[in-house]
Amino acid sequence: MTKPRITLVTSAEMPNLYSDEAGLLDALSDRGADPHIAVWSDPGVDWSEAGVCVVRSVSDYAYDRERFLSWAESVPRLLNHADILRWNSDKHYMIDLAKRGLSVIPTTWLEPDQHLSKQQVHSRFPAMGDFVVKPAVSSGVRDIGRYTANDTGQRQAAILQAMNLLSQGRAVMVQRYLEQIDVHGELSLVFFNGLVSHAVEKRAVLHPARVTDPRMHEAVVTAEHATEEQWRWGEEIRAVLHDYVRSLLGRDEQFLFNRVDLVPDGRGSFLVMEVSMVDADLYLEATPEALGNFADAITVRAFW
Ligand SMILES: Nc1ncnc2c1ncn2[C@@H]1O[C@H](COP(=O)(O)OP(=O)(O)O)[C@@H](O)[C@H]1O
Ligand SMILES: [Mg+2]
Repeated sequence: MTKPRITLVTSAEMPNLYSDEAGLLDALSDRGADPHIAVWSDPGVDWSEAGVCVVRSVSDYAYDRERFLSWAESVPRLLNHADILRWNSDKHYMIDLAKRGLSVIPTTWLEPDQHLSKQQVHSRFPAMGDFVVKPAVSSGVRDIGRYTANDTGQRQAAILQAMNLLSQGRAVMVQRYLEQIDVHGELSLVFFNGLVSHAVEKRAVLHPARVTDPRMHEAVVTAEHATEEQWRWGEEIRAVLHDYVRSLLGRDEQFLFNRVDLVPDGRGSFLVMEVSMVDADLYLEATPEALGNFADAITVRAFW
């Protein structure tokens, strides 16, 4: 029997796998597959011969989302599915999830086609406390600013950041800075083929009066034994996601992987920060089982 070919997809910016995923190639070989790595924008790759293709370090999609998505649509066996990538690569999906009753971080949306003036942007920012300005299409903690609302200089900087993004045709999200994240951190629950695998806790990463450095990677993480309550939250969110995706696509679609990021409020509830199904860091070194669980999940799909 020939071994099923599996291609782990990376980007020109990060052609190798995320450093904590290097062990995937061996893990997939051990499971009887024939794994390779390829860069999504490499014109030399024949995707029809690439077998099951799994998007991994493709964070540069945010620079040219349409080009990335048209590539995704051209790949016969891509995971997650191109339709999922289209939906999940723009954080406007948070609006859909909120409509379905999920508690997401309250967000004010600034859209390029509103042609907002500086004054109008100013009037959409909170009047007190810290707030966050971030692009709707972005990943890897890029271009995110945290500002103090009643500090004139910082407010000015926030307006500039927002105007700058809007002038590039990018939608902007404005949120209150969730102080709970400084206390409880952010909890990531990782699912493979719909089953829970592991959880990590991430420390807060935003510093006041600063836009994140584009070279910065994600936060310090520690493995976390998610409580029953947290898995119930994850399950609740996953059910909303599947339900939404079924109505969007008109069919069921099993996610190879999805990561749900929550900010617990310390009082038994949470707000969703994001749901990651494109280039999600899956924290495969966080627990001893994580990498094997992912390799199992991919192999199952390759043998389907
Ligand atoms: N409203 C907020 N309050 C507090 N921290 C925030 C907020 N929004 C973003 N952050 C911080 O910035 C990080 C990146 O934001 P996120 O929305 O997850 O974008 P990305 O897609 O770049 O990961 C979060 O993990 C969190 O630490
Ligand atoms: Mg994030």
